[in-house]
Amino acid sequence: MCGIVGYIGPKSVVPILLDGLKKLEYRGYDSAGVAVIEKNKILVVKSVGKIAKLEDKIAAYTPEGSVGIGHTRWATHGRPSDVNSHPHMDCTGKFAVVHNGIIENYIEIREWLESEGHRFVSETDTEVIPHLIEHLFEDSIEQAVRDAIKKLEGSYAMAVLSKAEPGKIVAARKDSPLIVGLGEDEYFLASDIPATLSYTRDNYIINDNEIVVITAQGVKVTDAEGNEVNKEIFHVKWDAVAAEKGGYPHFMLKEIYEQPKAIRETFSGRLSADNKQVILNELNMTPEDIRNLKNIFIVACGTAYHAGMVGKYVIEDLARIPVTVDIASEFRYRNPIIGKGDLVIVISQSGETADTLAALRESQKAGARVLAVTNVVSSSVAREADDVIYTWAGPEIAVASTKAYSTQLIAMFLLGIHFAQVREAIGPDYAERLIAGMKELPQQVDEILEEMAGLEGFLKEYAKRQNTFFLGRGLDYAVAMEGCLKLKEISYMHAEAYAAGELKHGTLALIEDGVPVVALATQMDLYDKMVSNIKEVKARDAQVIGVTYKGNTELKKVVDHVMYIPETDRVLAPVLTVVPLQLLAYHIAVARGCDVDKPRNLAKSVTVE
Ligand code: G6P
Repeated sequence: MCGIVGYIGPKSVVPILLDGLKKLEYRGYDSAGVAVIEKNKILVVKSVGKIAKLEDKIAAYTPEGSVGIGHTRWATHGRPSDVNSHPHMDCTGKFAVVHNGIIENYIEIREWLESEGHRFVSETDTEVIPHLIEHLFEDSIEQAVRDAIKKLEGSYAMAVLSKAEPGKIVAARKDSPLIVGLGEDEYFLASDIPATLSYTRDNYIINDNEIVVITAQGVKVTDAEGNEVNKEIFHVKWDAVAAEKGGYPHFMLKEIYEQPKAIRETFSGRLSADNKQVILNELNMTPEDIRNLKNIFIVACGTAYHAGMVGKYVIEDLARIPVTVDIASEFRYRNPIIGKGDLVIVISQSGETADTLAALRESQKAGARVLAVTNVVSSSVAREADDVIYTWAGPEIAVASTKAYSTQLIAMFLLGIHFAQVREAIGPDYAERLIAGMKELPQQVDEILEEMAGLEGFLKEYAKRQNTFFLGRGLDYAVAMEGCLKLKEISYMHAEAYAAGELKHGTLALIEDGVPVVALATQMDLYDKMVSNIKEVKARDAQVIGVTYKGNTELKKVVDHVMYIPETDRVLAPVLTVVPLQLLAYHIAVARGCDVDKPRNLAKSVTVE
């Protein structure tokens, strides 16, 4: 996701901004830019591509100022381009803004500002901020920022520079990270600690709804009402590499913990104000197109394929459209029977997986419509598909996918509910219940993460085993597939996932004394059948870890250990069920001494067949 930096102090600002931006590269970006107060003007230099390209451009100006802000952009609204890069400015060149987050009501604000005579140059949501500040500014930049953020919905960490008050940076935060680095007579702003760590270890961690004013004399932090906040200094003890991981030992664990935020980003802006409808404005499909759909094919690889398995259950169950789910490398060569009236949904975190891209092209050649669900803006699948739904998970760095998967599930729920509503396949009450349930998921994932802390002790014993089995029925089977893949790819332990009812047709022969079996039991309509399958493996002395809802006091009587998830609708359960499985795989891999973030032989983006 985007990164922001800022500096005020005695030194030349540009090298400090560039250094900070490089330290934020791990967040992922496609363009970069800086704004510097230079001889009572704001000089803005920005470029699509790597920071080196920005450095080349800056070399032509050799700015000397010592107040400035910078940004690495990870495209959300508008493709990566020079003009969409930050900083963005108002009409008069008086204000420059860098922003990380999404302004959800930007269309409304933009239309209003345009009607007031403001001229916009980019496709971004961010550009409304400098224009809004220009519109509201009287004599205090701090006040203008305060007034502007009252009108913004969504998430932001922003920094604002103004030639009206050239010795000042005003910053604000809501749902996107922001820190202030405290040096000696110099102050830094950043999205994350690595950007400032080579200058200072003392920081203020800015909280939601706080506003920061930085001058060469010091830092003032106030709350939304303008009351001064006494911040405690957060002293960083980690080294630079650990700092990039935000204090987590691995990117994978960090990304597991980022899931509540990522899930919220995926559904936010896609629900009606009364929470009764899913609104997918980005779809070019008309209600008639949706009503006329004959078949849906979901095509993907790896973890994205497992999200597709959930998608099949959800779309068939809610919208009653037949869905086939395929592995992309099989689909592209199996001469599938597809054509006009069919929809192919390709799911790909990176948007660059060779087999998925080829499947997309085959489908279009056959006359089907292609909808891409991807995390990377302007990726190949996003560019070539007829419709795109972005998952907004932010960059995923660990090879093993976690937050990309859970946001792909949210995309599947959004599509399932939307198609069902258009086709009137579910009633308004059920739709409303599902939407309410979806909105609770971030908090519920947080709860699981809190309750699972300390899991590693209990899992050490399991780390010594050679084989593990994952069992589930219905949606639990789809999640079992994903949990099993997580364990295999990062811990190198042999594991198999089975539809629990199929176990006795062969695999039961492998169950013997002490073999770990992870049994998912969240689909209550299938619960009794699942318990029978658990008893079958217990009868062969397997060691069973069950996953079920809190409040189920029965399961613990038939298994050795239970991991509990909060209560939710059966359809939404996969987002919660997968979290204990991700943690299980993670802790077992750590206990086995594996390279968690970069497992052997595997790559994050597979661009070859
Ligand atoms: C690789 C990655 C997996 C990912 C799969 C599909 O195998 O290691 O984590 O699920 O590719 O990638 P995509 O970018 O298309 O989702």
